[in-house]
Amino acid sequence: MHAKILIVDDDADIVMMLEDRLHASGYDTITASEGQHALEQISHESPQLVLLDLTLPKLSGLDVLKRLSQMKPSEPLPVIVMTAHGSIEAAVGAMKEGAYDFLTKPLDNEHLLIVIRKALERDSLRRQVAYLRSEVDGRYASIVGNSASVSAVVEAAQRAAKSDASVLLLGESGTGKELFARSIHQWSHRSSMPLIVINCVALTETLLENELFGHERGAFTGADRQQKGKLEMADGGTVFLDEIGDMSLPLQAKLLRVLQDREFQRVGGTKTVSVNIRIIAATNRDLRQAVKAGQFREDLYFRLNVVTLTLPPLRERQGDVPALAQFFLDRHTRDAKRPGMTLSPSALDALVRYPWPGNIRELDNVIARAVVLSPKDTIEPDMLALMADGAGLHQRDDTSLPYLDLPYHESMEHHSRYIIHRAMERADGNQTKAADSLKLQRTYLARLLKQQKD
Ligand SMILES: Nc1ncnc2c1ncn2[C@@H]1O[C@H](COP(=O)(O)OP(=O)(O)OP(=O)(O)O)[C@@H](O)[C@H]1O
Ligand SMILES: [Mg+2]
Repeated sequence: MHAKILIVDDDADIVMMLEDRLHASGYDTITASEGQHALEQISHESPQLVLLDLTLPKLSGLDVLKRLSQMKPSEPLPVIVMTAHGSIEAAVGAMKEGAYDFLTKPLDNEHLLIVIRKALERDSLRRQVAYLRSEVDGRYASIVGNSASVSAVVEAAQRAAKSDASVLLLGESGTGKELFARSIHQWSHRSSMPLIVINCVALTETLLENELFGHERGAFTGADRQQKGKLEMADGGTVFLDEIGDMSLPLQAKLLRVLQDREFQRVGGTKTVSVNIRIIAATNRDLRQAVKAGQFREDLYFRLNVVTLTLPPLRERQGDVPALAQFFLDRHTRDAKRPGMTLSPSALDALVRYPWPGNIRELDNVIARAVVLSPKDTIEPDMLALMADGAGLHQRDDTSLPYLDLPYHESMEHHSRYIIHRAMERADGNQTKAADSLKLQRTYLARLLKQQKD
């Protein structure tokens, strides 16, 4: 992949000289001779780096820098400024405005290339770190449970993690497929590179194709710039294809090619992009059955299941329930700032005996709800809202809310917790949606949530 560099200078000779040198070192270039044009080039062509002359007509180099830092403060574009020999002050001013480094004219070729390479390396690291930070969630820190069935899967996963083999994770909903996918990435030699999660069911076929492969400028109406797909963003790292069983047949064909050749084309493009990625896929569907029914390509199935790990349902490892319950209790009491809560022995017993159709995710939710609802620090079975036949969560009617007998202010506080918790749960944790459903301003809801945590 060639980095694209924008050269901004009003001196045509310097632009030409720089283009020659950069092309010779394998970079792509675009150019602009004044500030306004430079800003347009940046927003339309998304260069990875800018070489910016400070003394430009009209909009000065410094103005360009200022505008840039306003445009996308979270994604700073590395800018190297060029100044006339002796005008160190201007260079210092530019550094203060966020320039990465400066070069003095006449430019020294070797120095130029070193500074560019360093800036690009640093920017790529910055992106990786930002991506990892947003991805790595404390929730995925550890795999709880030491029943024989889950220990065997952990061992197999650790062995698989050492190789680059594709891994297929099978198991009912809520059994921990995503947790294992993240763990395998963490245990692998790719752990310092991105793990990119792609949910194959959440998007329509065209959107998913775009998400996977990216697109070239002009590929469709509204594609006003080139955009990299997630496969490209994962270069060097791992791609987690969640709910792979729901991918359409045409996309399966395209994915197969990626798995075979590790290369593809962006939507609307002809250039081949190669990537070095490790694939982990997961589904709760019976893929073998889907192959028989003609809904899943057999060749893709064989490519994916080099290593297959099947996660046991929670009801088959009831011995893990106490440790998991304690793990979620610790997490939710910490989140809700209600330390010291415990499960009564009979509550624990009820949890162990329950068949958990929604597996570990359901256990997580049950504990979360009990922590919010329980008026006492000891959680009793009636706070767990488990259905006797295990068909799912019992929706309690509002007259049976346990906190109704508390003093007014305490009761109101519990009620506020309860409706907010319920709205957040229904909105899958999305504050904007939850605020909408409660007819609150999002900022107000955020404040309530924060107050509850304090
Ligand atoms: N062994 C475990 N220890 C601790 N937490 C776990 C464990 N297994 C799963 N979890 C937690 O349970 C929840 C559900 O797990 P996860 O999302 O990985 O399941 P899944 O199999 O991908 O489910 P689905 O098929 O519904 O997407 C997550 O919050 C996860 O962190
Ligand atoms: Mg999942």
